[in-house]
This record gives sequence, structure tokens and C-alpha cells, in this order.
Amino acid sequence: MSKPIGIGLAGFGTVGAGVYKNLQRNGALLEQRIGRTFEVKKIAVRDLSKARDVQAPASLFTSNPDEILGDPSIQIVVELMGGIDLPLAFVKKAIAAGKIVVTGNKALLAEHGNEIFELAREKRVPVLYEAAVAGGIPIIKSVREAFVGNRFEAIHGILNGTSNYILSRMTGEGLDFAPVLAEAQKLGYAEADPALDINGWDAAHKAIILASLAYGFWIDPKDVLVEGIEKVTAADIRFAEELGYRIKLIASIKADESGAIEVRVVPTLIPKSHVLASVNGVFNAVAVKGDVVGEALFYGRGAGQDPTSSSVLGDLAEAAAFLESPRQSVGFTAHSLYGRSKPIDDTISKYYLRLGVEDRPGVLAQIAGTLAKADIGILSVIQPEGLVDGSVPLILTLHDAPFGPMKKTAQELASLPCVKGTPLLLHMETFQ
Ligand code: NAP
Ligand code: HSE
Repeated sequence: MSKPIGIGLAGFGTVGAGVYKNLQRNGALLEQRIGRTFEVKKIAVRDLSKARDVQAPASLFTSNPDEILGDPSIQIVVELMGGIDLPLAFVKKAIAAGKIVVTGNKALLAEHGNEIFELAREKRVPVLYEAAVAGGIPIIKSVREAFVGNRFEAIHGILNGTSNYILSRMTGEGLDFAPVLAEAQKLGYAEADPALDINGWDAAHKAIILASLAYGFWIDPKDVLVEGIEKVTAADIRFAEELGYRIKLIASIKADESGAIEVRVVPTLIPKSHVLASVNGVFNAVAVKGDVVGEALFYGRGAGQDPTSSSVLGDLAEAAAFLESPRQSVGFTAHSLYGRSKPIDDTISKYYLRLGVEDRPGVLAQIAGTLAKADIGILSVIQPEGLVDGSVPLILTLHDAPFGPMKKTAQELASLPCVKGTPLLLHMETFQ
């Protein structure tokens, strides 16, 4: 019988403690399936005196993550601390020391994937990150392995559990934003800094990882259009509903005919009949369109202790297989088939535009005229009766237009004397 594989857990919060708990629960099952056992040798935390829901022997704990790196009995380090600077230094030192890295840290990979995988390739050390994207859904392994024979035409996803939980409860139960966010935090879904969930950047980090993996080069975060759900009001959810749409924070990843890659994560109106419109609560979903497989859909819990630990356990099994029989692949393979992002202002979409306007004749004509001047066609108009804060809402849906001119035109409309307040411009995706 071979010796257990030594694991160092850096982080024992929602996910780290879940990994420990589920290794205890299913360690024997893993042994049956992969023929190896795992033993957690050290656990690094920030605060040694903190009371913990999951219990582990006190002798395993340290407040110095470097102790994990210095322990020769540890072959796999699991980075679940969150943040960027410390994990970056920690992961680079782990790779340099030849220890396999498993991480759930999407911010780290989205910002520093290039340098991490360059080092991983040089040292031939795997860096595995299933838990970083879409919680318990095995989308990384699918894109990296199962779909390796496909060109990816498009990937659309709901990639943040917290914001989807908030939008679903606002839509379904008419609840307010703040108390629902507090609930998501209590359930262990939100990031340590929940602003990342709300402002779209957590989902954007995941979209950057997915897009980079699918197209073989690290997407620069500056090339990604990111907007948060904070600007979506209960009234917009109602107007969208009336138009036959639902508002979701959608990650949209596409390659155009020239091979330029477009990545955006924005609150988006999608048809109520589309499968992503029915993905509610903490659930995530990813719809992949490959040139060989066609359409494939993945659905599951996108955040929380157990689903995320499930992905980490999968990576541990892959790490064990690597230790048994080292392979070339280290978790990310760069290639030169694509290599270029599309400028955000050139990306094309349909739009939802909400304006507050004066209730008098000629206003609609003025607005239609401004849009026509910019060559932007109107798809539909609704103007519910009744004044809100001295103006009436005017909701327009607009034909395909490049984002740059659309944004400029929305600003022009905002400066018209008949337009009150700040217009809200959202993307619409019809998946055609
Ligand atoms: P968390 O609950 O805040 O836990 C963070 C853990 O790291 C805590 O145990 C903390 O110690 C420890 N830690 C933080 N700074 C440290 C330092 N300087 N030195 C030593 N230990 C340190 O976070 P989490 O929700 O588990 O998330 C961990 C990572 O997984 C993040 O990158 C997150 O984005 C990612 N992730 C989370 C989820 C989820 O559903 N929560 C899902 C997928 C991916 P203390 O316990 O002493 O505070
Ligand atoms: N805060 C993240 C979410 C955790 O809500 O999706 C999972 O990555």
C-alpha cells in the first residue's frame, strides 16, 4: 500500500474547511476509486484563535502559509485563502518547490494566469483550478479535455451564484437588494469582499479564465466589458418581464469570423424561453457551443462549501494521477490560433434603454431622431402611464449596434432637456 499523499491546506474558511470535511467523509471512497489516500498535513489560517464549525486537530494549524511550502511531506498545496498578493507569492513558491497547486482563486488566475502558467510549464508542475469557475460544475475539465477537439463558437454562462441569488429573489419575490445580499453572505456564497459579486468582477474573473482556456491565450481584463447588477431596479425587472425577457448577469464569450475574442459580463435581458432564464438562486449554468459537439449545457450549484469542495476533490484526484504518471499538461495550454481581443466599442449587441422623459408631445420624435442620426434602429417601445419623480419612463429596445456609438448616443440622449435623470442602458441577448 503506497503512502498517503500529503496535502497542505492554505485557508480553512468556507471552502478550505469543506475540503477537509469532505476528505474525511469520502476519503475511503476516493481510495477505492483512485487507489490512493490523502492526508492533510498542515492547515494555514489567519487567526489561530477563531472558533470553527469544522474541527481538525490543533496540531495541524499554523498562521504561516510558508510552513506548508517548507514541509517535504506535502506534495499538493491547496490555495483557498482568497485575495491576490499573498496567494500569488505562495503559488509561485509552491510551483518553484515542485508542489502541485490546486486553487479556487479566480481573481488570482484572471489577473496573473499568464505568469503562473508560464512558471508551471517551465517547472512541469500542474496548477488545477476547477473550483475557480462555476463552483461544483466541472466546466474547466470539460473545456480543457472533453471538448479539446472543438473550436468554441460561443460560451454563455451565469457564473456568479451570489448575484444570481439576488436577481432571482428580486424577480421571484420582489425582495430588496440589501437583505438578500446579507442572506447570500450568511450562506457562504459571497466573496470576502462582496463588491466583487455585485459589480460583476467575480463573474468576469471566471469568464476570463474560461475564455483564456477556450482560446489559448490570457485575456487582458482591460479588454472585458464588465457591469454589475447594482444598477438594475425592480422596475427594470418588471419592464423586462413585460417585454418577454428576464435580466441575468450573463458572461458572454465569442469568437468573431476574424478570430477576435469578445468577452463581456453584464446584466443582460435574455428571452424568458431561453434555458439560462430558468437558472435561479445560487445555481450557475454554462452553455457551450462547439463546432463539433454543437450545443452542450452544464448546470449546478455555483458557490457554497460542498459544491466547491467537490471540484477541489476532483482536482486532488487528478493531482494524484499526475503523481502516479506525470504528463505534459499542467492545466493550461497556450496556442496561437486566436490571440487577439475585439475592442469593446466594436462589439455588437441589441440593447434595452430606459429613459425618464417629460410627458409632452414631440418627446418621442426627438428621441427617435437622435437614435436615427446614429443609425440605431428601434425594435420596440413601451411607455407605461403615470409620472415617476416628475417624469414618465420610456423603455426602448434597440436593434444590433456597436457598443461605442450606442454608449455615445445614450449620453447624447441624457443631455436632451426632455430627458430626466440618468438613462439605463443594458445589453440584450437573443442567442441567434
Ligand atoms: P473564506 O471563507 O474567507 O476563507 C479564507 C480562509 O483563508 C480563512 O480560513 C482565512 O483564515 C484564511 N486566510 C486568509 N488570509 C490568510 C493569510 N494571510 N494567512 C493564512 N490564512 C489566511 O473564503 P472562501 O469563501 O473559503 O474562499 C476561498 C477562495 O475560494 C477564494 O479565492 C474564493 O474566491 C474561492 N471560492 C469561493 C467559493 C465560495 O463559494 N465561497 C467558491 C469558489 C471559489 P481565518 O479562517 O483565520 O480567517
Ligand atoms: N462568490 C462566488 C459566487 C463564489 O457567488 O459565485 C463562487 O465562485
